Amino acid sequence: MAIVRAATAADVDAICDVCTRGYRATYPDLLTPEYIDRVVAEFYRPERVRTEIGAAPPHWLGYQVAEEDGRVLGAAGGGLTSPGTGELFVIYLDPDHRRRGLGTLLLDRVTEQVVEAGATRMWVSVLDGNTKGIPFYRARGFEPVERKHAFGARADEEVYSWRMVKPLS
Ligand SMILES: CC(C)(COP(=O)(O)OP(=O)(O)OC[C@H]1O[C@@H](n2cnc3c(N)ncnc32)[C@H](O)[C@@H]1OP(=O)(O)O)[C@@H](O)C(=O)NCCC(=O)NCCS
Repeated sequence: MAIVRAATAADVDAICDVCTRGYRATYPDLLTPEYIDRVVAEFYRPERVRTEIGAAPPHWLGYQVAEEDGRVLGAAGGGLTSPGTGELFVIYLDPDHRRRGLGTLLLDRVTEQVVEAGATRMWVSVLDGNTKGIPFYRARGFEPVERKHAFGARADEEVYSWRMVKPLS
């Protein structure tokens, strides 16, 4: 049975692996190979993830992992961007383990964390056209609010994200 727990230093390589494979499997039709390589190299390298394992409250509440039979199958993390406002910053699964409820377990965990930190709403950015992410967020109560130039995209890159929000209480 899968469990969700706070990540430890021993999970660094597994988080990099699951997020890299999850990211690469999600965007081949939406992003260029250069864009994908750049994001993976920036966010999911061990030197960076090692510094982000622990919480830096309230802005970052630490990586959370979904584990089954001792294997990390997913990772997520959130925090507060301002008092009362939560954000899910990252959520990726092993591509072979989607649609088994692991994403919901991770989202529930991050939701609990941001609520405990005082959030009454939670936001997420999801790439326009991400048919693996948007239906999940809709099914879990998020509504799209606005379409914006994607965080991490260069000014000359036509890459857009939906900002979606869910009330919490
Ligand atoms: C998004 C993600 C974390 C969701 O996790 P998951 O474990 O696959 O989702 P769950 O099994 O908890 O799904 C819960 C519900 O969401 C909906 N849902 C999830 N994925 C869906 C999809 N691809 N298409 C349609 N509905 C979907 C369904 O209603 C599902 O319930 P059901 O399986 O009983 O029908 C995971 O699929 C993933 O890693 N996707 C690729 C990466 C990604 O897009 N991350 C988000 C970046 S912003």
